[in-house]
Amino acid sequence: MLIVHGGTPLAGTVRVRGAKNLVSKAMVASLLGETPSVLRSVPRIRDVEIVTGLLELHGVRTHTAPDGDQPDGEIHMDPSNIESGSIPDIDAHAGSSRVPILFCGPLLHRLGQAFIPDLGGCRIGDRPINFHLDVLRQFGATVDKTPGGIKLEAPQRLTGTKVELPYPSVGATEQVLLTAVRAEGTTELKNAAVEPEIMDLVAVLQKMGAIISVDTDRVIRIEGVDSLRGYTHRALPDRIEAGSWASAALATGGKILVEGAQQEPMITFLNVFRKIGGEFDIREDGILFAHPGTELQSVALETDVHPGFMTDWQQPLVVALTQAKGLSIIHETVYENRFGFTDALVRMGANIQLYRECLGGTPCRFGRMNFNHSAVISGPTALTGKDIEIPDLRGGFSHVIAALAAEGTSNVRGFQLLNRGYEDFTHKLESLGARMEIP
Ligand code: EPU
Repeated sequence: MLIVHGGTPLAGTVRVRGAKNLVSKAMVASLLGETPSVLRSVPRIRDVEIVTGLLELHGVRTHTAPDGDQPDGEIHMDPSNIESGSIPDIDAHAGSSRVPILFCGPLLHRLGQAFIPDLGGCRIGDRPINFHLDVLRQFGATVDKTPGGIKLEAPQRLTGTKVELPYPSVGATEQVLLTAVRAEGTTELKNAAVEPEIMDLVAVLQKMGAIISVDTDRVIRIEGVDSLRGYTHRALPDRIEAGSWASAALATGGKILVEGAQQEPMITFLNVFRKIGGEFDIREDGILFAHPGTELQSVALETDVHPGFMTDWQQPLVVALTQAKGLSIIHETVYENRFGFTDALVRMGANIQLYRECLGGTPCRFGRMNFNHSAVISGPTALTGKDIEIPDLRGGFSHVIAALAAEGTSNVRGFQLLNRGYEDFTHKLESLGARMEIP
């Protein structure tokens, strides 16, 4: 448990390293190479440990230099002796993360078969994998769902195909990329996701020898090649973590320099931050985010796929919006069930109402489906410390910053979950002046 004493503005410097949502995928890509790969700026987070474990189960030799020697967070991955992992060993990873589903394409190319455990990840909606399985079948794989996991086989070399995704899913786009690069012939992917993390994965694959073009209007074309080599790559910085600290500065009335944060992948976030009244200064070494010292303004926004406002920026921002004057409206269009974390904020004193209707300019997929996917936040409201249980990664971050913004003490249970995606979370908070203890 984390005991948080609220009321202190967070001030100081934190560093963000490689994006969780690129690093894990680039690590999977190393399976496709005939020679070793080196990935830099890898954060020490649980998701990286999980993927490292899964790679090792498949015969990939990994080596992470201790941070003292290599503050760069460097991981070496040697896939020369790749082999099928034992099903019970793989199964031990069931429920741990969503990344195992991306092992399918690389394992089918290298070994002709794959076994994928039941997936984990945050419970922020149903999170089906139908797009992934449909796509893999289109490439020629056989997919057999068993009670313990999914068995896949490639009776012959997978072949390129034409795919149109029903929705620009990040994971399904990555699935297509990681499978098409070594399939026979050309693959055309329509309605692809084009998040910066996906573009960085494209850069990794190009270094490995892949031929990938990204056209306008979400079309990606991949010409399959016969073999790929290893890569050396520095992961792009984690813009979700950077946005989380930015919202923490606003919510607590503080000032945080996020070293490593970059402007371009955060342009949409920065616009919203400025509309609320937040101040920022783009520097060579990062971005300085600060509370203006005057009242924050309300905002209306919709989460969306890139270049829209990321769904993962939403939860920490909601805490800042509880301190803004007037009515803020958030229409969540990526996940159907991503406002569960607001219950705890309401218990702490926030005024947040959830709606099933689409409270945004564009009706979304969830409009007629009875999901509470729009939120109206009325502020400013004082928050008071409470007992809180961390529900998921991003919702959990917002609970902790709400506790820091609140008057009094909060007991935050399950905060270890934050280690899945935030490196050195409690140390960073302490360095920003947070008053808290782990009993
Ligand atoms: N979807 C389907 N069927 C599928 C795949 C997706 O219906 O087969 C739906 C999902 O249910 C969701 C929407 O499509 O409603 C978008 O899902 P997407 O596939 O884009 O998400 P993901 O790949 O599972 C990644 C990140 C998430 C991030 C989303 C959106 C990783 C490991 N996870 O998830 O990050 O929210 O993209 O940007 O890359 C996080 O970091 O905390 C996190 C949840």
